[in-house]
Amino acid sequence: MTGAVPPARLLRSTAIRATEHTMSKTLENLHEAFAGESQAHQKYRAFAKKAEKEGFPNVAKLFRTTAEAERIHAEGHLQALDEVASTADNLKAAIAGETHEFKEMYPPMLAEAEREGHKAKRMFGFAVKAEEVHARLYTMALEAVARGVDLEVTDFYLCTVCGHIELGQPPASCPICGANPKAFTKVTAML
Ligand SMILES: [Fe+2]
Ligand SMILES: [Fe+2]
Repeated sequence: MTGAVPPARLLRSTAIRATEHTMSKTLENLHEAFAGESQAHQKYRAFAKKAEKEGFPNVAKLFRTTAEAERIHAEGHLQALDEVASTADNLKAAIAGETHEFKEMYPPMLAEAEREGHKAKRMFGFAVKAEEVHARLYTMALEAVARGVDLEVTDFYLCTVCGHIELGQPPASCPICGANPKAFTKVTAML
């Protein structure tokens, strides 16, 4: 019976329960909002490319501008989740994520797509190999940051076909997808 509980204590425990509920619900909301905004950012960039190809440059610009707006929202949600830590900790989180992808996530996805003869097998196949390279590069970066220094390499080349990354200069052909050096883009500070 509630009558047995002193009113002040009852109020306090109710307040704590309400706070806990609000916090967990907000964390859940942040995860959902972060995922949704990240996906919208990506979709709008892809839609912008398509609009450019179809001869609608201003519609493309609207898609790109809105994509950036969604990216700003997503980053705010990530900050509110306290998931942006020190660079060393961020690298550890990135290594864990990439490792999960190439060891556990993609292999069964690739096998399933191959079994179904689904066109997704192409990008699953590229990703499973590229994520391993990403994990290796992040590990190299973590070793440097743990010593308190930046990476010495300054030139990063990205294969725009498969997502493979090469340091220093582009390869004669991409080791993952076989693309020629023209498929590699030199990455500047802002993509
Ligand atoms: Fe990756
Ligand atoms: Fe490639």
